[in-house]
Amino acid sequence: MEVAVMGMLVLIITFVFTSNMVDNKYNMASAATPVTFVFGDSLTEVGNNNYLQYSLAKSNYPWYGVDYAGSQATGRFTNGRTIGDIISAKLGISSPPPYLSLSPNDDAILKGVNYASGGAGILNETGLYFIQRLSFNDQIENFRKTREAIKSKVGVEAATKLCNEAFYFIGIGSNDYVNNFLQPFLADGQQYTHEEFVALLTSTLDKQLSRLYQLDARKIVLHGLGPLGCIPSQRVKSKTGQCLKRVNEWVLEFNSKVKKLITSLNTRLPNAALMFSDTYPAVFDLISNPTMYGFKISNTSCCNVDTSIGGLCLPNSKLCRNRKDYVFWDAFHPSDAANAVLAEKLFASLFSDNHGPSIAPQPSHD
Ligand SMILES: *[C@@H]1O[C@H](CO)[C@@H](O)[C@H](O)[C@H]1NC(C)=O
Ligand SMILES: *[C@@H]1O[C@H](CO)[C@@H](O)[C@H](O)[C@H]1NC(C)=O
Repeated sequence: MEVAVMGMLVLIITFVFTSNMVDNKYNMASAATPVTFVFGDSLTEVGNNNYLQYSLAKSNYPWYGVDYAGSQATGRFTNGRTIGDIISAKLGISSPPPYLSLSPNDDAILKGVNYASGGAGILNETGLYFIQRLSFNDQIENFRKTREAIKSKVGVEAATKLCNEAFYFIGIGSNDYVNNFLQPFLADGQQYTHEEFVALLTSTLDKQLSRLYQLDARKIVLHGLGPLGCIPSQRVKSKTGQCLKRVNEWVLEFNSKVKKLITSLNTRLPNAALMFSDTYPAVFDLISNPTMYGFKISNTSCCNVDTSIGGLCLPNSKLCRNRKDYVFWDAFHPSDAANAVLAEKLFASLFSDNHGPSIAPQPSHD
């Protein structure tokens, strides 16, 4: 009897899960004007850290934004658009504004918010030498506040619907390596083996994603990490300028554990439609075969950064002649041109534009 009930539950969960997606992609036909909430680090930040007076993780000065609209440095850690900006444009929406740029009751929150903060990690202590940044826990707490504000604007029922139908893009974890585990002078790299560290990261992520689910998030896209061993700030540690193989192996282990976590969350949490977006292969291919994508150089950055003092593109740095030739803008972040290539691939992997056989909308509940 109990077994039969369990079996039915599994069936129901499987049905609801697949009805949110088409062939494991989100069905865009059912989301006319999608609302997106973005969480993450400097790869997705659009200017929150500008509002943190003492933060050292800032990019609101030249030459950041030199290829952005109006050649403005906005707090994006690249010369132009982030991958998120490009995906938003493809979804036909404007890129959600930084959380800290909005007043708590701004109507704009109904269209989506970006909580990302340069230097942030899964762990609270990650990036501590940046003095100020919004950790993933801080970002989730800020989303909770947004949700309360949405409730008072449109009522509980409409707020729940909005949050259930929104997309949640999360790109976090790079700093837990680059600005934590891989820094010899910080405790975590000494205290934990990689096996222990990756277990700590995934158990923390489990709690964080479950918390977002409690806050009504359902369509959650978690981006895996790219080949961090190949970013310029890591390559300089190799005598021959090669990718650091051990770092890439750690990243692959992290990605594979997180992928399993996503599968587990989808079975544990009714109506959850989480997706793991494995960005590693696309980024690795771009770095390994730059010329196939129209680039010339992928082993160093366009901005002639000083990696001994961090690797951001400071105002006195010299830029390369043709920014479109370079995969990397500074020692950590891809160029606008590289983001365009990666966003194209990511979009195709996440969203089905095959409007084919229409799938019944998810039966409304509670
Ligand atoms: C991390 O910070 C949050 C507050 O943002 C706190 O609730 C939590 O206990 C902290 N986690 C650890 C492991 O210290
Ligand atoms: C990048 O690769 C090119 C071509 O293989 C090589 O000549 C150059 O020294 C490399 N640069 C760095 C910084 O490793």
